[in-house]
Amino acid sequence: MDFEEIKKPDQNQFTVKSNIKNYDDSYEKSSWDEIYSELDWLPGGGLNKAYECIDRHVKNGLGEKIAILWEGKNGEEEIYTFKQLKDLTDKFANVLNSLGVKLGDRIFVFMDRLPECYIAVFGGLKIGAVVGPLFSAFGPDPVKDRMEDAGAKLLVTQPELRRKISNMLGDLNDLQNIIVVNKDNRDNNPLIEQDLSYEELMEKSSSDFSIANTSQYDYSIMHYTSGTTGKPKGAVHRHQAIVQQYATGKWALDFHHDDIYWCTADPGWVTGTSYGMFAPWSNGITQVIYEGGFSASKWYSIIEKYKVSVWYTAPTAIRMLMKSGEKPVKQHDLSTLRFIGSVGEPLNPEAVIWGNKNFEQPIHDNWWQTETGAIMCANYASMNVRPGSMGKPIPGIELAILDKDFNPLPPNKSGLLAVKPGWPSQFHAYWNNSERYNSRFKKSWYITGDEALMDEDGYFWFQGRSDDVINTAGHLVSPFEVESALIEHPAVAEAGVIGIPDKIAMEVVKAFVALNVGYEWDEKLKREIMRFAREKLSAGVAPRDIGYVDSLPKTRSGKIMRRLLKARELGLPEGDTSTLEDD
Ligand code: PRX
Repeated sequence: MDFEEIKKPDQNQFTVKSNIKNYDDSYEKSSWDEIYSELDWLPGGGLNKAYECIDRHVKNGLGEKIAILWEGKNGEEEIYTFKQLKDLTDKFANVLNSLGVKLGDRIFVFMDRLPECYIAVFGGLKIGAVVGPLFSAFGPDPVKDRMEDAGAKLLVTQPELRRKISNMLGDLNDLQNIIVVNKDNRDNNPLIEQDLSYEELMEKSSSDFSIANTSQYDYSIMHYTSGTTGKPKGAVHRHQAIVQQYATGKWALDFHHDDIYWCTADPGWVTGTSYGMFAPWSNGITQVIYEGGFSASKWYSIIEKYKVSVWYTAPTAIRMLMKSGEKPVKQHDLSTLRFIGSVGEPLNPEAVIWGNKNFEQPIHDNWWQTETGAIMCANYASMNVRPGSMGKPIPGIELAILDKDFNPLPPNKSGLLAVKPGWPSQFHAYWNNSERYNSRFKKSWYITGDEALMDEDGYFWFQGRSDDVINTAGHLVSPFEVESALIEHPAVAEAGVIGIPDKIAMEVVKAFVALNVGYEWDEKLKREIMRFAREKLSAGVAPRDIGYVDSLPKTRSGKIMRRLLKARELGLPEGDTSTLEDD
């Protein structure tokens, strides 16, 4: 089906410097140099994300501006100004200092969307630590893999999450301290063994702190992301990434100083840090943080209550809103919404059109990934939106479509989506894995792992992934990580994991297992293996369904042919099976 371009009204009434008013002009008018000069930099010449996001606003007279409008899952409300955030993050930096955390040490934050999660991340950045946020729904296996790989020295968490992973914490040889946040005394028995109480440490700590003189090249944050093979890799970003996070907040999300912004992503994933922390706060924007989960009417009431003007969310959430119908939309006053953005999965054209009808504006899709650190390609506020397209590259970013030999293809040809390296928010390592890092660069291009095409007007259109990584509800899942968990079950001899299409979550995880001798496949065993995987991984990552096979299709070198499993499951052509091992 063809969808017509959605023509936008002239948006040139906005006067914020550097907001993109006209796409073609932006290439001449905006440059990274200009953006670098808009940042404050540290007095000693360095660059620190926490300083750009918090301290500089206090220095520039915005201390009383609201940084966080927090609503807890039980309806609690808290407000934090930039000045309060400065004091609290200074205090937490002093706590870390007193525990011996040094520049470059890795600290992990495993928390729900509590204000203290944000305080911990920014306190860590202030001391020059490399902060690793973790998705709070994770079970013990993903947490262990990530913290072990990174050699984490300290963990900040909360009582019930701490208990969930207790059994594996003793295996982490580098871990020296666990700080437990007992928000509002929600837990009666928050501390185990040597754990430290966040509240007690903060009570004793001074807010007199001198921020570490990090350079723009020092590491700031690491996010583990799923790859084609092996366990997830720790993509590491520098403080310099703030340059592009700041710029794209203005350009791609159209931030204005008086905006109330809501990013629905969890800080355990990159959208929740790059656009739930760095982009809004480097722009001095007030943001809503809602601890609770999804419900259509609750989400609309958050927009209404806090007068949200810029909303950044994800296709799965939009599809869930569509499913809940138009009635709840009409029951709320959403007239404050000025700009809606979406990322993480393909945004189907129907969703853009549904948004246009129900929110009186199209939803603006944009594209980026953990490794890019910030938005690379976007539908701007000023652009006519082509439903189904990810928009155009942001100024200063060169995207290309390459053939399998990594040579550029002309418009309207599908191929590998690639980026010219050197963008400010580029990742600079996979932790301890330079081989994998280097393998992402070919013939002077960074290869994204996605397939796309560019039309003759320069709009990019997502076509799919070129690897086996599963995108479920906007979260990338490594089949290998799920297979590793499954084969730890005594009944499972081998496992192959694929993504199968789903109307809401785009894909859901499905596993196929072969059993060890002595086990019989039945419904009870299937349910037990599914529960086992959920406890180890998390509900979102564990298989939604498991099928039984006598043996998995493998190449002669022993690699599971997931592509073939998928083709068989979906009744698609099996393609080239010449490397298939004989049964
Ligand atoms: O496959 C693309 C998909 O999500 C991947 C990046 O996921 P992650 O590293 O977890 O980062 C999430 C935050 C952006 C991409 O390689 N993806 C992202 N945005 C889009 C998308 N697929 C289609 N359309 C998008 N707009």
